Amino acid sequence: MYEGSALRVLVGGTTIIEVTTRRTVLVVDFGAQYAQLIARRVREHKVYSEIVPHTITAEQIAAKNPAAIILSGGPKSVHVEGAPRLDPKVYESGVPILGICYGAQLIAHQLGGEVGRGSRGEYGRAQMTRIAGSHSTLLKSELPDVQEVWMSHFDAISQVPAGFTATASTPEAPVAVLENAERKIWGVQYHPEVVHSPFGAQVIENFLHNLAGCDASWTMGSVIDEQIAAIRAQVGDKRVICGLSGGVDSAVAAALVHRAIGAQLTCVYVDTGLMRKGESDQVVETFKRNMGIELIHVDSGAKFFDGLKGTTEPEAKRKIIGELFVRVFEQHTGGVTDAEFLVQGTLYPDLIESGGTDGTASVIKSHHNVGGLPADMTLKLVEPLRALFKDEVRRLGSELGLPDEIVWRQPFPGPGLGVRIIGEVTPDKVAILQEADAIVREEIRLAGLEREIWQAFAVLPDIRSVGVMGDERTYAYPIIIRAVTSDDAMTADWARLPFDLLERMSSRIISEVEGVNRVAYDVTSKPPGTIEWE
Ligand code: XMP
Repeated sequence: MYEGSALRVLVGGTTIIEVTTRRTVLVVDFGAQYAQLIARRVREHKVYSEIVPHTITAEQIAAKNPAAIILSGGPKSVHVEGAPRLDPKVYESGVPILGICYGAQLIAHQLGGEVGRGSRGEYGRAQMTRIAGSHSTLLKSELPDVQEVWMSHFDAISQVPAGFTATASTPEAPVAVLENAERKIWGVQYHPEVVHSPFGAQVIENFLHNLAGCDASWTMGSVIDEQIAAIRAQVGDKRVICGLSGGVDSAVAAALVHRAIGAQLTCVYVDTGLMRKGESDQVVETFKRNMGIELIHVDSGAKFFDGLKGTTEPEAKRKIIGELFVRVFEQHTGGVTDAEFLVQGTLYPDLIESGGTDGTASVIKSHHNVGGLPADMTLKLVEPLRALFKDEVRRLGSELGLPDEIVWRQPFPGPGLGVRIIGEVTPDKVAILQEADAIVREEIRLAGLEREIWQAFAVLPDIRSVGVMGDERTYAYPIIIRAVTSDDAMTADWARLPFDLLERMSSRIISEVEGVNRVAYDVTSKPPGTIEWE
């Protein structure tokens, strides 16, 4: 029995062997946008967490033998018909439970307390005060008696269930914290997982480490050890191939698999000609020269330009790029006849979104990875990052020795610059866009904003406009700068870049990139816009 470790072997996306002795915290999802953040916060305290649907039964929970359970917030009122509930037997399991917001109300409601309809509700910052004479095990004594918390609720707990104590309140929530240390059940009306609750992290940490007794043992080092064991057990002495896209996920997945099985791994990098400036050289430099990974570098730009000739419709372009990619990939892995496995950089949010978090279904988003892969592919999947969030993948990459330029790379779409050139894609347009894009990214990096900005890039539209340079009238392309902040690319906001930074980008692009005479900045959020232009 190896406490604090897990071995999970996936074949074709299905778990066939699971030796999970690592104690996991289950985050029960009552409203998706809260659960992911809570799961990430738990992991920040070096405790592994997994999100499970609220329909999970007490038996299913028991089978997972969790160290603790956190009930997430959610948009519903406990009074609404059909509002999600927790299987009541879970409360009797003795596993420590922390309810957050809706989760706290559910505890009160299901265990015999009362949840009143809030008269005004409470949204945003609120002052929470300890209830005089009460003793809290959740709010440790070193926390102040009055603290700021982030609230977002309409209903409020008005009476705690028998055996519970209310230990803190806010103006609109007479029970902001309720607890029953004997039954190991705690609830907070506020959101300790958001940064606007300054002591929230300490409350989560106290729950995990002290009240639930979870070890702080889940580190990137432990993930590497576990995954190396799992990959070796899964692939044995078979050959494995991995398509590198130049992006973070496939790079980290490849580095991890290489650490596990060394020369059994062959990577294939299909250079579509639609990559960013310097990207191909960097992939070859890092993987082949620095890491000694066997790399098949396929320089196939000419094929892609040929295939795209005359096509302007965005979906048609995507389809051509995707199909060509598959063909080239197959052609060049044809020599690796004994390969039985394919590495995919699938991440945890991809699985959550496709509903496959139980390890039963491995749905590859058509979006995901380089242009999609053959539907009839007979290779089995190795997905060593499927339990990780993006920020964890980056940390893992650093731990594996990948350079910052790869680890901190922005997401880049599979079809590459092909979806950032509106209209027909030609080598000339790609050359213009590569130069402009390199300037945008370099200026973002020099301004120290690389880690704050989700994506910053240039777009080349299919229009030209009149300008004047020196004494000459020009008729050239504009470049559109797109920079967004986001947590997950599902929603995004346009980045409020400083004017002087935009100014530097603009003047550099116009003076350094031939064929461009105007620069515009895209101030559209997502929704209604998308991040990419096509
Ligand atoms: P949109 O444009 O839909 O993009 O707001 C959301 C995120 O997905 C990336 N993206 C892609 N990634 N293949 C990919 O691998 C694609 O076809 C693709 N299209 C968009 C985009 O860069 C952003 O991060």
